[in-house]
Amino acid sequence: MRIQTDIDALVLRPWREDDKPSLVRHGNNREIWRNLTNMFPHPYTAADADDWIGIANGSGDAIHLAIVHEGEAIGGVGIIPDDDIHRHNGQFGYWIGEAHWGKGFATAAARAIVRHAFAGPRFQRLEAEVFAWNPGSMRVLEKLGFTREGVHRKSVFKDDQFVDCVMYALLREDVASGS
Ligand SMILES: CC(C)(COP(=O)(O)OP(=O)(O)OC[C@H]1O[C@@H](n2cnc3c(N)ncnc32)[C@H](O)[C@@H]1OP(=O)(O)O)[C@@H](O)C(=O)NCCC(=O)NCCS
Repeated sequence: MRIQTDIDALVLRPWREDDKPSLVRHGNNREIWRNLTNMFPHPYTAADADDWIGIANGSGDAIHLAIVHEGEAIGGVGIIPDDDIHRHNGQFGYWIGEAHWGKGFATAAARAIVRHAFAGPRFQRLEAEVFAWNPGSMRVLEKLGFTREGVHRKSVFKDDQFVDCVMYALLREDVASGS
């Protein structure tokens, strides 16, 4: 699988064994860890990269792709489906190596995977929970048309503190209607 984004040099593709050094280089960053679930470790070691590449390629219905810039994996984007009555929801997440922040890469990668996700029948709704201290990520979601649905007060414990979490969601019909 290879998904082209709206930026020529930026594509999404499955994680590969040879991404390990760049995954550690870009992933070993407290500022990234601080904004993700604890599934993303800190410090980020070569053993963590090994584990991740196995998980990313063996997660059933979940989609986990590397964000690749000029051949180098510089971040990740993924959608983890919920189950039972929530089975048509997907938990949406992404990160970009700090050296590449502010270039529109997260927006382009996220837009491409949203398009991919809604091209199939599984997802009706994509959700992203953003910590209150992360306005950059809120901006990415707003550029993609996600709606800010509400605040889950102190629902997250991260970096030794409770933090509010802002729920953003995008419905299939939001994209179809171009909102
Ligand atoms: C959040 C993150 C993915 C953004 O990546 P990026 O490639 O720099 O994002 P983009 O360049 O596509 O867009 C960022 C937008 O946020 C804006 N922004 C950045 N910092 C901001 C801030 N402190 N306040 C308000 N807006 C901010 C930028 O100006 C830009 O908006 P614009 O295009 O209107 O100017 C990246 O910083 C990251 O990986 N952070 C750590 C992990 C993370 O937060 N993941 C998301 C978890 S919900």
